Amino acid sequence: MEELKILLQTILNKDLQQIILSNSRHPEQAQKAKIRPVLIRGELVFQETAYRGTQVFHENFTAEQMTDRICTALAEQFRQGEFTAKSLQATALVSKKGKLTLKVKNNGASKAGKSTASEQEDLQALSHNRTKHYILEEGKPVDFLVGLGVQTPDGRVTKARFDKFRQINRYLEFIEDVIDELPTDRTIRIIDFGCGKSYLTFAMYYYLHELQRRDIQVTGLDLKTDVIRHCNELAERLGYDRLKFERGDISTYEGTDVADMVVTLHACTWRRIMPWTKR
Ligand SMILES: C[S@@+](CC[C@H](N)C(=O)[O-])C[C@H]1O[C@@H](n2cnc3c(N)ncnc32)[C@H](O)[C@@H]1O
Repeated sequence: MEELKILLQTILNKDLQQIILSNSRHPEQAQKAKIRPVLIRGELVFQETAYRGTQVFHENFTAEQMTDRICTALAEQFRQGEFTAKSLQATALVSKKGKLTLKVKNNGASKAGKSTASEQEDLQALSHNRTKHYILEEGKPVDFLVGLGVQTPDGRVTKARFDKFRQINRYLEFIEDVIDELPTDRTIRIIDFGCGKSYLTFAMYYYLHELQRRDIQVTGLDLKTDVIRHCNELAERLGYDRLKFERGDISTYEGTDVADMVVTLHACTWRRIMPWTKR
């Protein structure tokens, strides 16, 4: 464990690319965790993304907290750790008897002689990573955002819809976090219950189908006839042929008995969960 601690003290800085903890002893608590550095209001922290069932949890920690956390996680929860930093790559394997074996491969990158300016550039890059995480950028027109009036045809975000633009981008970060969980060998079936005006449904479709080229079939369901008609018209105009909207009630929906992902956001009045969503 001491070796692991030293490794973590070396790599838990802005040069860390990613840590993945896997091979869970208790999958019901977490199947996997990913850790990456992020700058939040100028402060470097380490963001843990933990995967439990179909849920994803984010938490931020200081380097010191994260060091203890990873040591405990490898002692109690996970049997494997992969560490990728600018200067090295390492793997930790924990045997059934709890013995930890650490293998470290140096990338040959040296920090010696690094100028303050280049340190500054790295920090800026890290900070930009958060901005880059904003998958849809202002200034670049996206067909559905223009169609929904969030952007003007030249890509400017309309003042009244800036919060919506931010919400859409934040939402896409959640989709990005679960993309690895979605099947790759068949059509991914997604249902959005209570899709409303469907800003987020269009965003999800655009991200998964247009940007990530995933084979998807998305259904948006809502009680409101006029909203559904409008959404279908827009989907057709945009050529989003794997996106359909249906009028219906969540509690009596029988459109499919299989779903890979069920989204239901702010649809507070639905009364009971359909049995198949418990799968
Ligand atoms: C506040 S909007 C949320 C829209 C969208 N999910 C979002 O987060 O931007 C809630 C929507 O849920 C729909 N809704 C509420 N109860 C529903 C039900 N039982 N079946 C279908 N749609 C429902 C409403 O008609 C409304 O359009």
